Amino acid sequence: MSDRLSPSGRVAMNIPLRLALLLAIGWRVEARDLKFPNGFMMGASSAAYQVEGAWNTNGKGESIWDRLVHTQPSCIAQSQTGDVACDSYHKYKEDVKALKAIGFGYYRFSISWPRVLPTGDIANVNQDGVNYYNNLINELLANNIQPVVTMYHWDLPQHLQEFGGMSNNVFADYFEDYAYFLFSKFGDRVKWWITFNEPLSLVSGYMGDCFPPRVNSRRVGEYYVAHNLLMAHARAYHIYDKLFRTKQKGKIGISLNTEYAKPKSNSAADLEAVNRFLQFDLGWFAHPIFSSKGGYPPLMIERIANLSKAEGLRRSRLPNFSQAWIDLIKGSADFFGINMYTSKVVGAMQVTGLDDSSDMGHLTAEFDSSWPTSSVTWLRYTPFGMRGLLNWIHNEYGGNVPILVTENGWADSGNKTDTMRIRYYANYLASLLDAIYIDKIKVIGYVAWSITDNFEWSSGYT
Ligand SMILES: *[C@@H]1O[C@H](CO)[C@@H](O)[C@H](O)[C@H]1NC(C)=O
Ligand SMILES: *[C@@H]1O[C@H](CO)[C@@H](O)[C@H](O)[C@H]1NC(C)=O
Ligand SMILES: *[C@@H]1O[C@H](CO)[C@@H](O)[C@H](O)[C@H]1NC(C)=O
Repeated sequence: MSDRLSPSGRVAMNIPLRLALLLAIGWRVEARDLKFPNGFMMGASSAAYQVEGAWNTNGKGESIWDRLVHTQPSCIAQSQTGDVACDSYHKYKEDVKALKAIGFGYYRFSISWPRVLPTGDIANVNQDGVNYYNNLINELLANNIQPVVTMYHWDLPQHLQEFGGMSNNVFADYFEDYAYFLFSKFGDRVKWWITFNEPLSLVSGYMGDCFPPRVNSRRVGEYYVAHNLLMAHARAYHIYDKLFRTKQKGKIGISLNTEYAKPKSNSAADLEAVNRFLQFDLGWFAHPIFSSKGGYPPLMIERIANLSKAEGLRRSRLPNFSQAWIDLIKGSADFFGINMYTSKVVGAMQVTGLDDSSDMGHLTAEFDSSWPTSSVTWLRYTPFGMRGLLNWIHNEYGGNVPILVTENGWADSGNKTDTMRIRYYANYLASLLDAIYIDKIKVIGYVAWSITDNFEWSSGYT
């Protein structure tokens, strides 16, 4: 997707042309009103490690992603790194220009924790990093673009990792202090905050060898990390409530992710599999925050307790929240951020006896072969999934919390015609509008991934 591709991978797209194309082609199956509701938030999304570069410039500390790409090059396609990436650290004004050109009113970006606090704690501030984010925020506001700031998009300070990082339960202390620091420095101008991006993805750092911090503690580590993450999230939310909200009047949420699960059939067994799939992928993080009861999904608690017992453990591998923590985490978000890209057809798989294949258990989750492919194996074109997932969230957690789509987008290998991306955006947005107008779901905005051609984690720039 490059009209102008510099060696750093930066792309300046001809955005007005694309928008005109999108509207002209329409890509609608049927003609319908394509208008968004008044005040609907529209923008683009990015993450510090994927775009900033300047990985060790002007006092920035090392992150766990810096450490991974420099010490385990085989984990990344073509051994690429985010050392330079889109060089947004130097070229943020170009990013803002591109956002402005398309007419976006919002930019979701993340703050690199080690850029502002090189060792992770607030006693050691890197003023250059603070200046960088001040400049970016001010440039956005000068162009009438509202910042939507992710506090944690995976680039933990390496120094905190040295003593366990997110698996150490002091993580919540460090995160609360970091959040306090961000609200103090930037909260006068930032009104939209996201604590964590995609907990479901980041816990894979504790389930294998190629995602930082590369701790292989499958079926144990991911639960402790998730547990600490949920407590850290709630601590950030409550410190905002207590010390900043009255004056700053902003909103705080979290960005969760899942594939939509399309039932293979309407049989009870297939619907049970769909529910199990979504409870384990999304409910794990959503139920504690957004359900009326709080805590982990009952199905997850019961299954993991049963399996742990069968394995000979004295307690469940899924940690238990005290009632006090359940109450602190419950309701700790002003909006539900969802990253949605694709779908799977999910169905039951018959097993006899204890199903210990995985904590989620046996089921089938497959792409339908008719769904158009992208340049990455995990992503296929499934516009119906947008409406489907928004409905699932709405039905599961009630209609009160507004939903913000914080990521959605298409991967290709640099096809200049860009036809599939246009089709993808047009029809996913149409599906989202159906959720708003037909299903009456409170969706307040949509930020697309992304405005630059950036470092895509283990896929590098491929
Ligand atoms: C857990 O085990 C109990 C007792 O064997 C059983 O009744 C229950 O159905 C199991 N729950 C799940 C979710 O597997
Ligand atoms: C989990 O915590 C709750 C609330 O404190 C408590 O009632 C329950 O007994 C605990 N369960 C286990 C298995 O420890
Ligand atoms: C590029 O897009 C065109 C038009 O949709 C399509 O026919 C072609 O297969 C695409 N090529 C690649 C490499 O994706």
